[in-house]
Amino acid sequence: MGAAAESTHTGATTDTVIPGRWPLLGHTPSLLRQRFSFTSGLREHGELVKIYLGPMPAYVVTTPELVHEVLVTQAGKFEQGILFERFRPHLGNGVALSNGAFHLRQRRLLQPAFHRERIAHYASTMVESASATAVGWQPGEVVEVYQAMQQLAVTVLGRTLFATELGAAAIAEAQRSVPILVKQVIVRALSPGFLAALPIPANRAFDAATARLRAVVTEVIAAARTEGADNGDLLSMLLLARDAETGESMSDQQVYDEVVTLLTGGTDTIGLALGWFFHELGRHPEIERRFHAEIDEVLGGATPTIDDLPKLGYTRQILNEVLRAYPIWLLIRRTNAEVDLGGVRLPAGTEVVYSPHALHHDPRNFTDPDRFDPDRWAPDRVGEIPKGAYVPFGAGVRQCIGNTFAQTEITLVAATIAARWRLVPVPGRPVRMKVTGAAYPSRLPMTAEPRHG
Ligand code: HEM
Repeated sequence: MGAAAESTHTGATTDTVIPGRWPLLGHTPSLLRQRFSFTSGLREHGELVKIYLGPMPAYVVTTPELVHEVLVTQAGKFEQGILFERFRPHLGNGVALSNGAFHLRQRRLLQPAFHRERIAHYASTMVESASATAVGWQPGEVVEVYQAMQQLAVTVLGRTLFATELGAAAIAEAQRSVPILVKQVIVRALSPGFLAALPIPANRAFDAATARLRAVVTEVIAAARTEGADNGDLLSMLLLARDAETGESMSDQQVYDEVVTLLTGGTDTIGLALGWFFHELGRHPEIERRFHAEIDEVLGGATPTIDDLPKLGYTRQILNEVLRAYPIWLLIRRTNAEVDLGGVRLPAGTEVVYSPHALHHDPRNFTDPDRFDPDRWAPDRVGEIPKGAYVPFGAGVRQCIGNTFAQTEITLVAATIAARWRLVPVPGRPVRMKVTGAAYPSRLPMTAEPRHG
């Protein structure tokens, strides 16, 4: 980073050193030890707070207004920061990790694959895959719900991406590899570089998973490129997409990077949300009862379709609340020009952090934020939530490209499974939370009880 940040107001307190700073290591040990409570505690120190990631200063924005400036109003002055640089060697230069004009081009090329009418087309895959999972359970069986939901999310995205027979091999490989990549990539991004080179089992598993996935996906891309046909899947869309301005298409390498970006960004997030969805239902019988009443009334025993979504209003409230309570922990941007933020002038090259989790658990934004309460999303109460305080998918030009896909999938899968099964917590097996990039359940065993007959 260049020169120190300057206050453009008198009285700004951004250079106050936040407690918990270590020599050389900065606030990283406190951040990693305290996780959510560290990021939530920062709001007491101001709206723009300086911390140290190791020796590197970083500013944390703690209010919806400043987060909105970073993501929307002044978005052009921010790019992906240090965290994404660490991901890039493993995940390539896909849309999530690229910057500037290249990022915008990739967004334009990918966007048609996420239009509403395409999502309607994917909806049947979502319901079929969820039905196949639900049919495989036995009454009284203890299901590891998070794992089951993660596998289901990989199946759905895999089938959306690859419709061909060769694609089936890629889906099977993704089932094996993607959970390993997702778990390890966060650890790698937060650890010193030399750790990744040690020949320990976790590193060997990561390297082997990356190599296997690359081999099989590269083969599918090559075959689809040679064939040149539109198979109706997302891969065909990526291969056939042309930039409206330049007429350019993507290279095979770029298509590969986007496939891996979608497989990693669009599966674990969904698996987690579905896992916590069923966990919260299991803890709140009244919410579960209302949810079951709604799906029984709307579906009347049939499997859901995309046309049912507008009628599943209470289900949507539960989903909003799951994404509020269990969002991504933090994201890091970097200024690419001098920026005036909250009355402080930050030079180009400054790392700026925002935490969806901290915003979602700030009592100034959400009353009683630790309470799981889908009714805060009821039509007559939703207006109480301050603008910009709810950002499970980010906002602005980098808003999650898969947000409608995700909301459709979570709702359809939850309804399909709950039409058949009630998932009941296993007594004496408390679910603990482990925070890495988000809150993960240690384990999530639940007993499948048939709901009807
Ligand atoms: C519940 C599920 C999901 C959650 C909570 C979620 C959350 C997010 C968040 C917070 C961001 C970053 C915003 C930022 O950088 O400020 C993001 C970006 C992204 N997500 Fe998602 N996501 C989900 C599902 C999906 C799905 C299903 C896909 C694709 C199939 C997807 C693909 C992406 C991509 C490609 C980006 C990068 C966008 C860009 O930088 O232009 N996500 N997501």
